[in-house]
Amino acid sequence: MKKHPRLTHGNVWLFGAVLAWSLLFLACSTTRTIVAPTQIEGADFVGSAECATCHSEVMEGFKHATHSGLTMEGPKKIDISCEACHGAGSKHVQAGGGRGSIINPGRETAVCYQCHLDKRGEFALPNSHPVAEGKMTCTDCHNPHKGNAITGGGTAFEGPNETCYQCHSAQRGPYVFEHEASREGCVVCHSPHGSVNAKMLKTRNQNLCLQCHFQQQTGGGILIGGRDHASFLTRGTCWTGGCHEAVHGSHASSSLRF
Ligand code: HEC
Ligand code: HEC
Ligand code: HEC
Ligand code: HEC
Ligand code: HEC
Ligand code: HEC
Ligand code: HEC
Repeated sequence: MKKHPRLTHGNVWLFGAVLAWSLLFLACSTTRTIVAPTQIEGADFVGSAECATCHSEVMEGFKHATHSGLTMEGPKKIDISCEACHGAGSKHVQAGGGRGSIINPGRETAVCYQCHLDKRGEFALPNSHPVAEGKMTCTDCHNPHKGNAITGGGTAFEGPNETCYQCHSAQRGPYVFEHEASREGCVVCHSPHGSVNAKMLKTRNQNLCLQCHFQQQTGGGILIGGRDHASFLTRGTCWTGGCHEAVHGSHASSSLRF
């Protein structure tokens, strides 16, 4: 099981810097568009303990979540994990809660890009999930309030794949001949955000498969899975060469053919 990432000073500093930048950008926002989401005007940071008094159900799962424990830099050193995404909350608390007094990012990705700007680049790659087009969003796959932020992740063996099956039921099977690779997770072969390769594959050639299937050079032959593949390898990739097209599992053949 993966350990919770502990926040390093680097991350905390990063957040401090991001805040500083967004304030700076807000100040001169007539000429620049800002990455940070809008803030409720005149609101101050109050700390996550305040939020917990009314949102105990969110707080419950949040205790061990990736995004808990984000602290604000400077003299007023408080835990502002909730407000890191929802913006300063004093007005909301004064109003006794309700709508309109706090940011609800909903399906807005800008809030995530404040700290995960690299992901915007991944979703701009030629083969990617349609997040930039607004047809999908981060929370389709990530839970911002719970666990390690990868929905279904955690202790369940096949948990993370469940997220993918919600929309890609064809890959769930069951198959007569299952390909055990998927048990390791869809991400052994696919880059979940985006990739330069077709079908969001991590690699476009047989190295994708040789991650797990050992290739052995013999005198004049190349053994994979105990069979000489020397002539097969010239035909194309393992899945387009007319050999193992049913990469996710097959109903017809243990060699993963259709
Ligand atoms: C005094 C109680 C109270 C406190 C303290 C409080 N909230 Fe709320 N919050 C509410 C209520 C009530 C709602 C409205 C729920 C609804 O309409 O379903 C709400 C709604 C929200 C929403 C959804 C708003 C929307 O427009 O959909 C968010 C996000 C939120 N709170 C975050 C926070 C954060 C972050 C904090 C801490 C800074 C906090 N709340 C502190 C009572 C509170
Ligand atoms: C990593 C960013 C992030 C953090 C940290 C975060 N939230 Fe949220 N929160 C979101 C997003 C995104 C949504 C909108 C979810 C959606 O609509 O799918 C949301 C929605 C909400 C809502 C609206 C009701 C709901 O569940 O949809 C409340 C209330 C809320 N958050 C409270 C909190 C509290 C309290 C904390 C701290 C314990 C917190 N959030 C921490 C991103 C975050
Ligand atoms: C204030 C900065 C900040 C914001 C805003 C933020 N994150 Fe994060 N996120 C972090 C930090 C810090 C980590 C821990 C990474 C590390 O340890 O290097 C993290 C980690 C993650 C991880 C990896 C989880 C894991 O267990 O490996 C995911 C997924 C993630 N964030 C998604 C999101 C999503 C989705 C949003 C928007 C709803 C969001 N983040 C908003 C700071 C942020
Ligand atoms: C199609 C589902 C999906 C969507 C949509 C998605 N993610 Fe992810 N993301 C994943 C999966 C799966 C992983 C785990 C990757 C792994 O284990 O190799 C991950 C990992 C991450 C991580 C931690 C590892 C890393 O690459 O840094 C962060 C941070 C993250 N996602 C942020 C985001 C943000 C921000 C968005 C929205 C802009 C987003 N993700 C949208 C599926 C998704
Ligand atoms: C909320 C729905 C949703 C979820 C969850 C989801 N996807 Fe997707 N996926 C899509 C959509 C929409 C497309 C784009 C389909 C298109 O362009 O025809 C897509 C495309 C793909 C493609 C490329 C298909 C092609 O024909 O090029 C792959 C591979 C893929 N997803 C894998 C995954 C994996 C792995 C996960 C889990 C980490 C996942 N998806 C989670 C909706 C989803
Ligand atoms: C062993 C590597 C591997 C694993 C593991 C894997 N895939 Fe794939 N996937 C591929 C390859 C290779 C293709 C391209 C097939 C083609 O071009 O005909 C593909 C294609 C796809 C497509 C596009 C439609 C299609 O069948 O061509 C989707 C959607 C997809 N995969 C989803 C998933 C999901 C969801 C999982 C996890 C349950 C997963 N994949 C696990 C290798 C893998
Ligand atoms: C994450 C590891 C992993 C990856 C990556 C992977 N496989 Fe597999 N594959 C397995 C395991 C485990 C088995 C079942 C045990 C065995 O037969 O070696 C298997 C079995 C097979 C079989 C059936 C062998 C037989 O006849 O019993 C074929 C064919 C196969 N894989 C092809 C591929 C192809 C093609 C790719 C690349 C698209 C690929 N594998 C990528 C782990 C993997």
